[in-house]
Amino acid sequence: MKKSLEEHAARFDEKADAYDDGGTPEYRACAGLVVEHAAPATDDAVLDLGTGTGAIALQIAPDAGRVIGRDISDGMLERAREKATERGVENTSFGTGRFREPAVDESVDVVTTNFAMHHLSDTEKREAIGTVANLDPHRFVLGDVMFFGEPDPDEPFYSPAVDDPATVGTLADALTDAGFALTRVERVHDQVGVLVAERVPAERTLVSQRR
Ligand SMILES: C[S@@+](CC[C@H](N)C(=O)[O-])C[C@H]1O[C@@H](n2cnc3c(N)ncnc32)[C@H](O)[C@@H]1O
Repeated sequence: MKKSLEEHAARFDEKADAYDDGGTPEYRACAGLVVEHAAPATDDAVLDLGTGTGAIALQIAPDAGRVIGRDISDGMLERAREKATERGVENTSFGTGRFREPAVDESVDVVTTNFAMHHLSDTEKREAIGTVANLDPHRFVLGDVMFFGEPDPDEPFYSPAVDDPATVGTLADALTDAGFALTRVERVHDQVGVLVAERVPAERTLVSQRR
């Protein structure tokens, strides 16, 4: 049985202090690609979902107008805030929010997420992508554990007891159904990748519907 939201939060509360000491080369490659593809403009508002200790948010912050980090784990959020203070980063804010209820009441320009969405079921991921679309970003960069081929639970990137990664196809369908066009697929490993989705302008959707 998969973990509840509260159980995930408690699990990450316990890991928070040591979290930044870990990470596989694939995790680091994935994080690097998410930061690279986020590419915000200097006045852009970026929302980082499942922000954890701020690995992505704090790297993006120098290039963005501001970065909003959301997570369900108080312990991870506290560590993110400490790191922002230690590094003198002033344009980030970290607070409680979840994929399907991010607690953000404004539109954002770019949404990022790294190694977090695989905690949701496929149905929940689809809902989360719909929630992201409603925030009206022009770009959504989704780095995560995802299956390019057959799932292999012996690989180290996820634990079948607590995690629920999707296939790349499932994620691509959910993104396009929510009005995004998939502009880049980065395969880091057969079970780790980054999808870059851009908003399809309304007029282009109308033209393609007329054809
Ligand atoms: C493996 S960490 C990744 C953290 C960070 N994005 C990174 O790249 O290091 C996964 C994070 O997702 C958060 N998380 C899990 N389920 C979530 C949900 N439904 N909504 C928001 N955050 C969630 C966890 O609390 C944890 O901080």
